[in-house]
Amino acid sequence: MKPEDVRRIGVVGCGIMGSGIVEVCAKAGFEVVVVELNEEAMARGRSRVEGSMAKAVDRGKLEPGARDEALARIGDSTSLDDLADADLVIEAATESLETKLGIFARLDEIVRPDIVLATNTSSLPIAELATVTKRGDRIVGMHFFNPPPVMKLLEIVRALRTSEETLAFARGMGDRLGKTTVLAKDRAGFIVNFLLIPYLNSAIRMLDEGFATREDIDAAVELGLGHPMGPLKLLDLIGLDTGVHVSNVLYDEFKDPIYAAPTLLKRMVTAGYLGRKSGKGFYDYTS
Ligand code: CAA
Repeated sequence: MKPEDVRRIGVVGCGIMGSGIVEVCAKAGFEVVVVELNEEAMARGRSRVEGSMAKAVDRGKLEPGARDEALARIGDSTSLDDLADADLVIEAATESLETKLGIFARLDEIVRPDIVLATNTSSLPIAELATVTKRGDRIVGMHFFNPPPVMKLLEIVRALRTSEETLAFARGMGDRLGKTTVLAKDRAGFIVNFLLIPYLNSAIRMLDEGFATREDIDAAVELGLGHPMGPLKLLDLIGLDTGVHVSNVLYDEFKDPIYAAPTLLKRMVTAGYLGRKSGKGFYDYTS
């Protein structure tokens, strides 16, 4: 399969990342079939896609007619069986190895054997997902960034068994989706999170030690480094639970304390302060 032959993309999961990926694919002209666990999760996912597209229309980034056409290209389902005709599947389910292994094993049975199965994992080993399939050479990482419709980067992750052909296909698909691709090896954190996590965790430790206020830490990075948002606002966007998870994976892989999740971050997650998605993180989003 060549990128230009792809008509229909399957997306597994319609959470923050999955819904963004669905939007990117539909706006690029692909038919999309998105699979969620149940009707409730599907309805939440669909309203995320609609909300983001409405924002794009408000900001003048998308014509209302193009929005309607893109929405009409999205079909939803609660069964992986509906991905049988997909020309590419991008898995964007919960960041749990067990969950993803189960999904890859099922996809391998359902989806045509020549089709590439990609994962949006931000940290888990792609090589391990390949082990539960009979198509190890056609498993690849396609890691989008939050929010996917806005962020231009797509990290392509090559596992030991990923073929050159699959890699070229993934990069070609990145081009068709309007993203700039970079290539990384299958090592925890790839390029971006390997650099990002120690920085975010340092900001949390700085706050916890009373070295500076949350507003000053964020303002320093925004105004001194030109980042669109400071580290604590960014953690609220990414999700504090995701921050803990990615930190744990990096720490497990490298055993270097710079990756260890700070105590304050772990306690905030325990208390249910997950960032924007729960209404409260380092900042309050309830009002
Ligand atoms: N659709 C299309 N465009 C949109 C949009 C949408 N739904 N929402 C916003 N935009 C566009 C705006 O039109 C604007 O474009 P211009 O600069 O061309 O005018 C741009 O995005 C910024 O928008 P705003 O300034 O209005 O700010 P916002 O609050 O709406 O959006 C943000 C903010 C895009 C999130 C921005 O703050 C940002 O880029 N933050 C950094 C995000 C980041 O670092 N992401 C990576 C996270 S790490 C990760 O994802 C890896 C992992 O595995 C954990």
